[in-house]
Amino acid sequence: MRVLGIETTCDETAAAIVELRPDGGGIVLADEILSQTAEHARFGGVVPEIAARAHIDHLDILITRALANAGATLADLDGVAAAAGPGLIGGVMVGLTMGKGLALASGKPFVAINHLEAHALTARLTDGLEFPYLLLLASGGHTQLIGVLGVGDYRRLGTTIDDAIGEAFDKVAKMLGLPYPGGPEVEKAADHGDPERFAFPRPMLRRPNADFSLSGLKTAVRLEIGRLPSLGQTEIADVCASFQAAVVDVVIDRVQMALRMFREKSGSPKGLVVAGGVAANTGIRAALRRFATQSGLRLVLPPPRLCTDNGAMIAWAGVERLRLGLFSPLDFAARPRWPLDPSAERVNNGKA
Ligand code: KG4
Ligand code: ZN
Repeated sequence: MRVLGIETTCDETAAAIVELRPDGGGIVLADEILSQTAEHARFGGVVPEIAARAHIDHLDILITRALANAGATLADLDGVAAAAGPGLIGGVMVGLTMGKGLALASGKPFVAINHLEAHALTARLTDGLEFPYLLLLASGGHTQLIGVLGVGDYRRLGTTIDDAIGEAFDKVAKMLGLPYPGGPEVEKAADHGDPERFAFPRPMLRRPNADFSLSGLKTAVRLEIGRLPSLGQTEIADVCASFQAAVVDVVIDRVQMALRMFREKSGSPKGLVVAGGVAANTGIRAALRRFATQSGLRLVLPPPRLCTDNGAMIAWAGVERLRLGLFSPLDFAARPRWPLDPSAERVNNGKA
């Protein structure tokens, strides 16, 4: 089985082709991606209209290239999958319409994919991980802890009640005059800083749920910066190191709580999976590694290219759905909000 996957929910335009292996794993035959970071950088964040236009400009070229690199034509595919949300509605509609059009023209089944489900299932593409498992998804738009019990079967154990973790990194970077996206810049500066110089708060610590809150921490950082007589390299490094240390403590505490909730409701998870751009942070990765070892959990960290937004994860989610006979009607609507767990009522800052 071979599926084309299309991703346009945020600022990456991506198209990939993934093949199902006989042993149940997957092979990425082609994986094309174009990041729009440079186009949004001067605005300090993603501008939805610019993103949608850039998707229109590049998507057809990326799909053509993906097919060529996989040595395939549309006729060789078994289905077309496109991310239908959650995300920026203009961009989502570009990819979704393209996917439907290609499926219609080639007479192949169409699968509308939840972008969060694609992140959640990536560990099965890369590591063949079996259900059930615990997922920490931390990017610029999402911060969620999810029990992944099966295809289409998800329990949201925790979410952020305000900012996403990546968003907090980006905002702190902005306060310090560091470029966008801020996560990697804050991490770089933190390497030379003193994580104990500033005692920033650890919001939500030990609360009996697995939710996050980042806005109080962000405000504490802003106030501290305002109190500093000067903002030189040392101050920037110390603020970054102290901020990152607070985030690490919060992440580990929240994951620990989610693990407890998972075990109470669904038994032992087969692993802990980390996805999203924030999973690139070496401080967070190291702390999660220590935590997983202590908890006797297998830790799965997909390679960064498959942790951040990409087309292969959409194609793979298409494979997972198609092999269960789950496809979508051609009038499937784009969804700016689309929680993975319909029973989870609270909305993640309007983003999921
Ligand atoms: O998954 P992603 O590429 O895009 C979406 O947001 O969907 O995640 C990007 C986010 C940005 O907020 C970025 O600052 C953050 O991930 N990020 C990091 C690091 N690398 C990227 N945050 C902390 N440390 C990093 N090394
Ligand atoms: Zn994403």
